[in-house]
Amino acid sequence: MSEYTLPRDRAHDADVLAPQAVLEAARRRTLALTDCLDDDELMAQHSPLMSPLGWDLAHIGNQEEIWLVRRAGGRPALRPDLDDLYDAFRHPRADRPALPLLRPDRARRYLGEVREQALEVLDAISGRAADQEQDPLLRRGFVFGMIAQHEQQHDETMLATHQLRSGPPVLDAPPPPPAPSDAATLPAEVLVPGGPFTMGTSTDPWALDNERPAHTVELPPFWLDTVPVTNAAYQRFIEEGGYHDARWWHPDGWEHRRREGLEAPRFWRRDGASGSWYRRRFGRVEPVPPEQPVLHVCWYEADAYARWAGRRLPTEAEWEKAARHDPATGRGTRYPWGDDGPEPGQAGLGQRHLQPAPAGSYPAGAAPSGARQLLGDVWEWTASDFTPYPGFAAFPYREYSEVFFPAPGAASAYKVLRGGSFATDPVACRSTFRNWDHPVRRQIFAGFRTCRDAAPADEGRP
Ligand SMILES: [Fe+2]
Repeated sequence: MSEYTLPRDRAHDADVLAPQAVLEAARRRTLALTDCLDDDELMAQHSPLMSPLGWDLAHIGNQEEIWLVRRAGGRPALRPDLDDLYDAFRHPRADRPALPLLRPDRARRYLGEVREQALEVLDAISGRAADQEQDPLLRRGFVFGMIAQHEQQHDETMLATHQLRSGPPVLDAPPPPPAPSDAATLPAEVLVPGGPFTMGTSTDPWALDNERPAHTVELPPFWLDTVPVTNAAYQRFIEEGGYHDARWWHPDGWEHRRREGLEAPRFWRRDGASGSWYRRRFGRVEPVPPEQPVLHVCWYEADAYARWAGRRLPTEAEWEKAARHDPATGRGTRYPWGDDGPEPGQAGLGQRHLQPAPAGSYPAGAAPSGARQLLGDVWEWTASDFTPYPGFAAFPYREYSEVFFPAPGAASAYKVLRGGSFATDPVACRSTFRNWDHPVRRQIFAGFRTCRDAAPADEGRP
């Protein structure tokens, strides 16, 4: 089967933008995350926050059928009866276990049947010039990229379900590389110069509607943490009473903290005798590694930590400027280090390691400012609500992003996260990519870094 042809000037991101390769990579991961459990475990709900893994499995196939087989291929429906069952907007997660879902063996067969047809559709259009398609859905393989990203996003969600599941461990991966030798001597913060930068994109072929269009944003200079906040730093916040001092908390966060009894990141337990912190990670209990970025904190915890530290969370615009603006050229790049990659040495992505690497890792992935780990390892909470960019147009359907934006005059229900985590695949990770979630959510692979305003005079400093 031939690959969908892409213009030669995009050859550098052929790995990320080759539709068949990314669809196949997504499927390998989907199967790896579900073949390791028996049918009863696949059909069980491990947390009211999550679907049964068997729901995710068939939903992945149903979305692929709707978009690649029916819409892109113009072919008749295979299983129109599944559309309602696997419509995420019709059935909230808590209700999904009671639905007459496909059993896992039937779901796997359905996924295979859909994929066979989807690859035939891809093959049929692969002789055409990808950038001259009249249908914007097909142009430069967008709909194939959208579906590969969709499957990988569910694979990250399914990994979060694995983390919530109790029982003996079933997943394993090698540990991340040790911290590089300069990690301990990095400056605590880096200066991001003031001035305009390009936020969002109008040209990235697989960017989703909420990343579009490109627009210029002017920002004053600011100091950003070189690395994400570590477990060791976060432990100081706990030990100095951060969870019990309302001064540091957003009023809604304080109320939430009291109601839920939050005392530490999710999955942490303190050993009564030694006072040491342990965490549960994919079924294994282990000491909390002090040098790793903190994980499984909600927005309210990140916000409280930042205030306690005398700092603040970066806005989404500040985060994106740090992660893609190259002051030397004035250009916005696809990644903090440039347009190529991501190579394994540049970012912790793709579930290669089932935990973040130590803070200061991946020097080859540093941004021009020197900030590290902006992509990969942990999603980073930002101060910003999830809102449309100026000129936003829903594509290809309102439910992708638009229904999550606040109604005019209403408060937003979602905060933006940036940068992807160790669980995010490269196909769904770039410096313009926007994720969003409720500020109370902790099951996602989220941490944060902090920042502070810079004085104009700081820009003259080294
Ligand atoms: Fe979905």
